[in-house]
Amino acid sequence: MRDRARDADSTAPGEIVGLGPGERELRDAVLAGLSTAQKQIPCKFLYDDRGAELFEAICDVDEYYPTRTEIGLLARHCDEIAAALEPGLAIVDLGSGSARKLDELLAGLCRPAAYAPIDICRESLRAAAHRAASRHPGLHVVPVCADYTEPLELPDVFPEAPRLLFFPGSTIGNFRPGEARRFLSRLGELAGPRGALLIGVDTTKDPQILEAAYDDRKGVTAAFNLNVLARLNRELGADFDLGAFSHRAVYNAARACVEMHLVSKRAQRARVAGASFSFREGETIHTENSFKYAPRHFARLARAAGWAPARCFIDDQGLFSVHLLRFAERAAPS
Ligand code: AVJ
Repeated sequence: MRDRARDADSTAPGEIVGLGPGERELRDAVLAGLSTAQKQIPCKFLYDDRGAELFEAICDVDEYYPTRTEIGLLARHCDEIAAALEPGLAIVDLGSGSARKLDELLAGLCRPAAYAPIDICRESLRAAAHRAASRHPGLHVVPVCADYTEPLELPDVFPEAPRLLFFPGSTIGNFRPGEARRFLSRLGELAGPRGALLIGVDTTKDPQILEAAYDDRKGVTAAFNLNVLARLNRELGADFDLGAFSHRAVYNAARACVEMHLVSKRAQRARVAGASFSFREGETIHTENSFKYAPRHFARLARAAGWAPARCFIDDQGLFSVHLLRFAERAAPS
């Protein structure tokens, strides 16, 4: 009887643990970022509820190849991925906008011990947790609302299970390479002994393909980028004129990075949380970096962070890569 009740309950996720980053953090980061010579806003602030919704829409636009290519890679190689991993894993999903991708991964894995989606956006997290719980009955779902770029403690609900960190979407590309290496090292600590990391990494390629992916014809990416100003207006009482900024995405080949900017269409001022900022015509706010890596360059970065590359999957056109890494802190340095 009690087991029956527990089985019925297991389709419902647990309560969300932790707080998302607050308004103070947003204000401080924006005031600091708008005070530097190249104005900037950290890209994590693109993801309020509306931003997360727009990002989901980006994943469906024709020009944005990463999502569908990565899903294809996971679907095609899920058995091979599962074969390289231990059974009874706890899957830690960093940034839970990856619902579809999780389904592909779980198609190969046999009975993971638990699934812990982590997301900065409470709404996305709630949706991901519900989706996972209802689509995978019996899966123990432990949603954690947190900023995984900050040191992070996971609730210890599966102490014995080896951890598989799942970091799809090439979100690693949002870090500069040095930061990415430090972040990957920290993920090693989070993964722990016997830990593994399955990570999606966008590849270097024809700049035209890259720029189209970040400046789609329907203007979804533009709306995503501009939404950060709407967020500042809403949450910090800022007075940005959204019509006076435009979206720009450029591939900086020297950095192997797509940069997103908001371009001021004219000379103007904007007030944010009691401070006033001036913009020259054509001046930009840098809102996102999306670094790209040739597979062997990413493997080198991962090794420098203490990971041992185990497998790398790439689609036929070389558009995207999925790397499976094992934590090998004590492995001989290469
Ligand atoms: C969520 C960081 C993977 O860089 O491709 C998509 C975000 N920005 N279009 C990326 C994004 C503009 C995306 N990541």
